[in-house]
This record gives sequence, structure tokens and C-alpha cells, in this order.
Amino acid sequence: MQPLKDASIVQADARNIRRAVDILRAGGLVAFPTETVYGLGARAFDGAAARRIYHAKGRPSDNPLIVHVDGEKMLELVVRRVPPLARRLIAAFWPGPLTLVLEKATRVPFSVTAGHQTVAVRCPSHPVARALISALGEPIAAPSANRSGRPSPTRAEHVADDLGKRVALILDGGPCRLGLESTIVDARGCRPVLLRPGTLTPEAISRIASISFASSGRAAPPSPGTRYRHYAPSCRVKLITPSAVRSGIIPGFRRRDGLLHISRWGGPRPAFVRRVSAGSAAYARALFASLRAAEKAEVQTLFVETLPERGIGRAVMDRLRRAAES
Ligand code: TXA
Ligand code: MG
Repeated sequence: MQPLKDASIVQADARNIRRAVDILRAGGLVAFPTETVYGLGARAFDGAAARRIYHAKGRPSDNPLIVHVDGEKMLELVVRRVPPLARRLIAAFWPGPLTLVLEKATRVPFSVTAGHQTVAVRCPSHPVARALISALGEPIAAPSANRSGRPSPTRAEHVADDLGKRVALILDGGPCRLGLESTIVDARGCRPVLLRPGTLTPEAISRIASISFASSGRAAPPSPGTRYRHYAPSCRVKLITPSAVRSGIIPGFRRRDGLLHISRWGGPRPAFVRRVSAGSAAYARALFASLRAAEKAEVQTLFVETLPERGIGRAVMDRLRRAAES
């Protein structure tokens, strides 16, 4: 891991946004805040710049990137057509944490889409992300700004810890408001198909159009990135139920282990402990930062309380299960 001082973290003011635009125009990489997590951006129309993203992250070349736009007009540059379902979802949820998979325009390089004829597009609501895309005047391809397989970054320091000098500039916009990635849906057909759960809940999408789930029946396969080991800190992650937390009795739990929880803990105080205020949105916001903090505290095993799989709890549990795979 690169030391923090190697990375260039700067305040996301107008001057530094102009610097970031110059770097992007020259084919370089810039990290920037979004309302979900920090992104590692390059010009989406520059195939060579997009390849630099895969290299910097150590990302498998078959895992496509999300393209970020500042609105519907810019979306039209990136996709072949915008079907009526996509228009309805955009009217309801953009700007915000919803990524749409649509047919790609010829101009989008295959290095961005990992060879697919489709492209994933979203319009972030974070003012710094919006200002950066608008100042560039072009779409920005950006996956989460972590090394491949690591927890997503929700603060500028997390990006610096993972990428160091591999990124030319990190625009610091403070902690991310949502803290968990966008929801990805395939919007090419007449019903949205959920490819990756995220901060926008299936319940909210269902109010606009009845949603189907990629894993059930003959629907589209899940988004390629969901195949890989993901979101894993260097410590082990184990999932525990709320009743185990309340009882304070967890098999194998030692004092030097860590605990991330909501329910009242009934056992002796462990070496590392983070209690998140009740509510799955607060849990989503704290999750990745807590995984990274436990790692910094050199915890061996982090025990994490599970959530009911409703609303945003569904996305939290998806990330937790993958963090706990070993
Ligand atoms: O909130 C977010 O979505 C953040 C911020 C930075 O916007 N980005 C993010 O990107 O989470 P990343 O690269 O960590 O995840 C992108 C996901 C991967 O699972 C990838 O497989 C999927 O998007 N994806 C990209 N293009 C796709 C496509 N054409 N079809 C299906 N899935 C696609
Ligand atoms: Mg990611």
C-alpha cells in the first residue's frame, strides 16, 4: 500500500476542479467525490485513458466501468437510444444513485464497456462530481476509486491509502453522504432488471415500474463485477445476528477482535468497536469506513451485525456477504 503523503489530496474548489479538467484532457486520472463513493475518473471517450483506470486499480479487464454524465443531453452522446422506461426512471431518480445499462453509442470505447455492446451510465447528484463533468463538457468513466477487491472509498484519505501516486489528483469533498454504491438496472426492456442492489431501493424503483431480479429465472445475468471477490479489508469479516450481539456470546470471539454493531452489545468491550445508530441508511454510510478503520486498528477478525434484507438493508447485506467470503 502506498503511503498517504504520496497522494495529492486537494480541496474540491473551482481552481482545483480546473486542474482536474486539465489532467483529464491530457488522458490522466482524477479521483472525485460522488454521493455514493469516490470515483476514479478518466475521459470516457479516451480508450487509452480508460485502460489506465484498470491498471491503477488492478481491475480485471472484463469488468466494465460506469460512465458519469451531467444530465440527459450528455447521456445521448453515450447511448444509441433512450427507451421510454429509461426516460421514466431518469425523471424519477436522476441525479442520484441509479445506474442504467443501455445500448452503447459507437463512440464509447470497448475498453470502457469491457467489450460489451451495452454501457452503464449514471448522473451523480454530488455538486463536485457535477461541476467536474460539466467543466470537462464530456462524460467521465469512473469505477469506485479503490484497489480492486477492497472496500469502496467514502473519504479522500481512503483513495490515497489505496492508490497513492497511481492517481494524479484527489478532489476532497468530505465524507460521502450515502456511502454505498449506486443501484444498477438494465433499462433496455419494458421492465427494469436489478443487476446490483445499491442505495436506491427496489421498493422505490417499483413505484415507477415493476422490477425483476437478475438472479431469478431467465432474466439477464448479474452485472459482471458482482462475480469477483469484493469489499474485503485485510482482516477477516464474520457475520453475526442481532441476538448474538445482545447476548454478548459469540463463539470464537476474543478481546483483540472487532465489532461493528447496531444492537446493544452484551459482552466485554473488545479492542475495536463501532456502534452505528439504528437504521440501515446510517449503517450503509458507515460500513466501508468501518471496515477500513478495523483494518487500521489491526483487528484480526471483525464481527459484523447483520441487517434485515429490506430497503437499503438488501444492498448492505450484499456487500457484507461478499466482504465475508474468503
Ligand atoms: O455508485 C457507484 O456506482 C460508484 C460511483 C463512483 O459512481 N461506481 C461504482 O463503480 O460502483 P464500480 O466500477 O465499482 O462498479 C461498477 C459496476 C460493476 O459491477 C460492473 O460490472 C457494472 O457496474 N457494469 C458496468 N458496465 C456494465 C454493463 N454494461 N452491464 C452490466 N454491468 C455493468
Ligand atoms: Mg467498485
